[in-house]
Amino acid sequence: MDGMSLPDAPRINPSILSADFVNMQRDLERIAGADFVHVDVMDNHFVPNLTFGPQMVERIQATSPVPLDVHLMISDADRWAPGYAELGAASVTFHLEAAVDPIALARRIRDIGARVGIALKPDSPAEQLYDHLDEFDQILVMTVEPGFGGQSFREDMMPKLSALRAEARRRGSEVWLQVDGGIAPGTIEQAAAAGADTFVAGSAVFGATDIDARIAQLRSLATQHAHGADSLGV
Ligand code: DX5
Ligand code: ZN
Repeated sequence: MDGMSLPDAPRINPSILSADFVNMQRDLERIAGADFVHVDVMDNHFVPNLTFGPQMVERIQATSPVPLDVHLMISDADRWAPGYAELGAASVTFHLEAAVDPIALARRIRDIGARVGIALKPDSPAEQLYDHLDEFDQILVMTVEPGFGGQSFREDMMPKLSALRAEARRRGSEVWLQVDGGIAPGTIEQAAAAGADTFVAGSAVFGATDIDARIAQLRSLATQHAHGADSLGV
């Protein structure tokens, strides 16, 4: 983000998977109060759904009032991910299984100047990342099977999240912990308590009648329930 200051936690990143694709500019303006816009790129190969590629993301980058948090659900991330950093995305996240050499790819993305994230599907364990937390700026713990918006939050992912939070703390790592899938009032509290600091929400934001109010509500719930908030007296 080239010297721009980064937003403090909790960060709320609406997913435009739930936006109206033919009114993308209008919907991007509707989330100007968010921290990042979460951009789901799907290739109908890594996941059984298809969205858009670099041409569309370049237009979103040119139009969005907030920085881009690109979530790549694509195969062959080694080949495609750096291009999203080059077009100016603030962060580029790829799935662990989609890269031949995740650490080398993470370094390339950082060298271009973007933050880099690594994503874990529900069945992907987190332990393999513990020794490499410093190679990433964020870890995305999927709380649904990737591919579609509007699915139910997987509460059973909370132990993975808590374990990552404990490991990050133990190692003094500042890696962001992001959750994606089924985040809404009623579920964001659990994710925050388990240690997430960055929250993706698609249907809960774009399905709301007052989008600004929904973003504020999510931020407030995440703050109230933040990991360690009790011990800080918040
Ligand atoms: C799912 C995507 C999510 C999706 C979340 O594969 O990665 O970003 O948009 O949608 P909700 O918030 O509706 O579960
Ligand atoms: Zn996503």
